[in-house]
Amino acid sequence: MSAPNIETIVSLSKRRGFIFPASEIYGGLGSSWDYGSLGVELANNIKQSWWRWLVYERDDIEGLDSSIIQNRLVWKYSGHETTFSDPLVDCRACKGRFRLDKLQDSQCPKHSSVHAGESGDCDFTEPKQFNLMFKTTVGAVSAEDDENALAYLRPETAQGIFINFANVLNTSRRKLPFGIAQIGKSFRNEVTPGNFIFRTREFEQMEMEYFCRPEDAPRIHQEFIDGFQEWFQSLGISSENLKLYEQTPAELAHYAERTVDILYRYFPEREDEDKQWDELMGIANRTDFDLKTHSKKPEVDGKRINPDSTEDLSYFDEATKERFYPYVIEPAAGVNRLLLAVLMDAYTEKTNAKNETRVILKLKPELAPIKVAVLPLAKNKPEIISMAKQIKKDLQPAMRAVYDDTGGIGKLYARQDEIGTPFCVTVDHESLEDNHVTVRDRDTWEQERVNTNELKNYLQKRLG
Ligand code: GAP
Repeated sequence: MSAPNIETIVSLSKRRGFIFPASEIYGGLGSSWDYGSLGVELANNIKQSWWRWLVYERDDIEGLDSSIIQNRLVWKYSGHETTFSDPLVDCRACKGRFRLDKLQDSQCPKHSSVHAGESGDCDFTEPKQFNLMFKTTVGAVSAEDDENALAYLRPETAQGIFINFANVLNTSRRKLPFGIAQIGKSFRNEVTPGNFIFRTREFEQMEMEYFCRPEDAPRIHQEFIDGFQEWFQSLGISSENLKLYEQTPAELAHYAERTVDILYRYFPEREDEDKQWDELMGIANRTDFDLKTHSKKPEVDGKRINPDSTEDLSYFDEATKERFYPYVIEPAAGVNRLLLAVLMDAYTEKTNAKNETRVILKLKPELAPIKVAVLPLAKNKPEIISMAKQIKKDLQPAMRAVYDDTGGIGKLYARQDEIGTPFCVTVDHESLEDNHVTVRDRDTWEQERVNTNELKNYLQKRLG
């Protein structure tokens, strides 16, 4: 089972402290969200899992953390200044502003039951291109629109990687093929943000740029397409809720040879199966466009395409004595979209002995914000409380553990199930005598007595 719709996750997130609307006490700020104590743990676990899988478990990928604000020329030569825009239309009838290519997903403000473009009185203006990059100024400028101080908040982490290609290559003494991985915030002034954390103006990306010989690019591209599907499943996402989408030639970015998106079933409630899916990540073969465009050497019609760059980002192959611009395979995923998919897929309902419905978040232990909750069975017995607190303290260096005595045991179990804690450890009167505690499994609700001396090993083994 998975969540019946995104709304279920919005309400669980708010109720239990995963995600809150941003600036809520001032009326909010359209489609901005703050991650609470559990949300930040889940996001960190997702990012760590990605980093471990790509940077630590492979031998061919380096890490990077580049600046959010770069020289404006980065965005000139990447093409973002001229092409990173959406076509916008205004409706003279309802006064709404919409993305032309997303009319079907936009709500008409006048007719609440129809999408934009569907009502008889829609009266659209000619489309205008709207650049999605957030502008800012750098330094103490006299005028807000001072062109010399203009800079952008990065709309993707990828460009920070391309412009550091030579730095990483030279300092790590890598040979092709190799990749550079980066996780960080990106910003896009989206025209129609929405669907909770699915499309926001501030979001986090996990991008990896893999540099290779042109002839190896198609094979490596396919390997990453297969690899990411397997990785998502290893995080507990059901294969039934994942599918591939091959971009058509008309949809491909001008630099891309082939792009495959991995889609997740974010909208299971929609009747039309085709409309249940949207993009979780994209995996592109970006050819040699990026390294060429940021290089000082390449020429078109006898003219340098980049007279501003001071570096040539070509690669010299010692073995073949060839110099060329590597191709780039780019798996680009959104932290927030993956977090939403993980929450939706983990969502389960179960009926207890009293015929009450309970929510269980069946998160993979690796991703669970809290691994174990230590609960005293009696709140009025100081020895039980201090034993429970001591157990929490002993477990904490090895795993995220919490102590909770703020309710009856049934309520405490239910709360931990709902936030995905794999194990609860209960300390009772007998524990004081026999040094054993009860370990309860989140998914089966089965209980087992375990000696406290063996507790850490026992839990570590079961957490995997
Ligand atoms: N460097 C390539 C690139 O940025 P993209 O498809 O525009 O490609 C990659 O973005 C991923 O970033 C998307 O698949 C999605 O997961 C995430 N993403 C993009 N825009 C987003 C937004 N406005 N809100 C949340 N996530 C977003």
